[in-house]
Amino acid sequence: MEQSLEGMVIPRHIALILDGNGRWAKKRGLPRPAGHKEGCVTVEKTVELAARMGIEYLTVYGFSTENWKRSTEEVGALMQLFRYYMVRLLKVASANNVRVRMIGDRSRFDRDIIDGIGRLEKETRENTGLTFVIAVNYGGRDEITRAMRKMAQDVKDGQLKAEAITEETVASYLDTAEIPDPELLIRTSGELRLSNYLLWQLAYTEIYVTDCLWPDFNREELEKAVIAYNNRERRFGGTS
Ligand code: IPE
Ligand code: IPE
Ligand code: MG
Repeated sequence: MEQSLEGMVIPRHIALILDGNGRWAKKRGLPRPAGHKEGCVTVEKTVELAARMGIEYLTVYGFSTENWKRSTEEVGALMQLFRYYMVRLLKVASANNVRVRMIGDRSRFDRDIIDGIGRLEKETRENTGLTFVIAVNYGGRDEITRAMRKMAQDVKDGQLKAEAITEETVASYLDTAEIPDPELLIRTSGELRLSNYLLWQLAYTEIYVTDCLWPDFNREELEKAVIAYNNRERRFGGTS
């Protein structure tokens, strides 16, 4: 029997590892980029769904620091899609009162992509609904490393005292500064690993893995994840 979301707690922040675009394409005898293209359509739909569900933050893993190791053709196709969807996203964000924010090291992208990211963030900054966070050229270890480098520099410059560093200080140097930690992580396509995603932020996040391939992800799948989250007994190291 289908359960409704009535009376359920909607997580404030959902993190997503959208995996399985390649497998989706392979199943259909299509080239991998066809899976990525369909995956972009699903991202767009999911942003609209999340905005309507009242989720405050949705963070999706779009491209990892390790994904540069893929073939030149695949990386090139992903960059082209990224260019195209940045423009579409501006429309989707405006229509749904969505604020867009990118995390990760954008400096490795081509100039026009860097400018596009800047424009998207600037033009959606005043929106008050869902905050849609896209992790691109993102790696948890890279994020922590960049944060440590900046902290060390601030200590050296006398702007930060080493003995005054707390967990809050570290969090404030991360790309996700001011974004609350995710309550729920959803990974599609069945892999049981973090793949270098939000290593600091996921410390106490509930993990939900579905076999559904990312391009097939839909409202029903999202609702199933939220229902599973509601059936969890959340602990933070203490007893219940
Ligand atoms: C996720 O799908 C999208 C990106 C990592 C860019 P994959 O491309 O990893 O798809 P699979 O895992 O090969 O099926
Ligand atoms: C994780 O997916 C990264 C993104 C979704 C962007 P991958 O397909 O790259 O991860 P692995 O290779 O399965 O660990
Ligand atoms: Mg994958």
